[in-house]
Amino acid sequence: MADKSYKFWNRMARRYANVEIADQGAYLEKLRVMKEHLDHRANVLEIGCGTGSTALLLAPHTRHYLATDYSLKMIEIGRAKAQAAAMPNLEFQCLAVDQLDIVDDSLDVVIAMSILHLLKDWQGALARAFTMLKPGGVLFSSTACIADMNSRYKHLAPLSGFLNLLPVLTVFSQEELVQGMTDAGFKIFHQWQPGDDKAIFIAAVKPPQS
Ligand SMILES: C[S@@+](CC[C@H](N)C(=O)[O-])C[C@H]1O[C@@H](n2cnc3c(N)ncnc32)[C@H](O)[C@@H]1O
Repeated sequence: MADKSYKFWNRMARRYANVEIADQGAYLEKLRVMKEHLDHRANVLEIGCGTGSTALLLAPHTRHYLATDYSLKMIEIGRAKAQAAAMPNLEFQCLAVDQLDIVDDSLDVVIAMSILHLLKDWQGALARAFTMLKPGGVLFSSTACIADMNSRYKHLAPLSGFLNLLPVLTVFSQEELVQGMTDAGFKIFHQWQPGDDKAIFIAAVKPPQS
């Protein structure tokens, strides 16, 4: 893998597994919206799943849930949690977003929580998600739009990837994100920002006639 930023996340994995969710209320609301679109026939893919916290909560509402991440350390923690919770329909695979080899038009839902702003080619990831989804399938994403933020990350982003000390950080605005989704072919039906400088939660459908 040319991109070595997975090493950063491998180093973070143990700590990340123990970090409390910063805004529990917003997270619960995002879960509620996602659950509304899941059922026991749903074939779900999550990209950048981390240690599988969201996967463990949503997999019981699906037929099959494939949780992927390019950090093996994250995946190992997720697998251990899934085994302890006896969840046979939850599968973890160590895969980068650009390594996914999934049949076109085969997924009901793609989940991308706190990942699009970590990808150099986030537009490519959106295009791939669109192709993998069935017509009528839904993409859920929660994304830090760093260009709109009043934050130090804006200044750190150009250094991202430097010596593998920082993760890749890609700076774009909410407007650019929405445009990227629309360009990929999605129709946004839910867009929510829980507060200033918070991640934008977007639900978007691949139109049924596509
Ligand atoms: C901020 S964490 C988010 C984890 C989880 N989705 C959550 O919301 O808690 C970002 C995750 O994306 C993964 N990641 C970053 N770039 C990736 C890539 N190109 N392919 C696959 N996973 C990636 C990292 O390893 C890390 O686990």
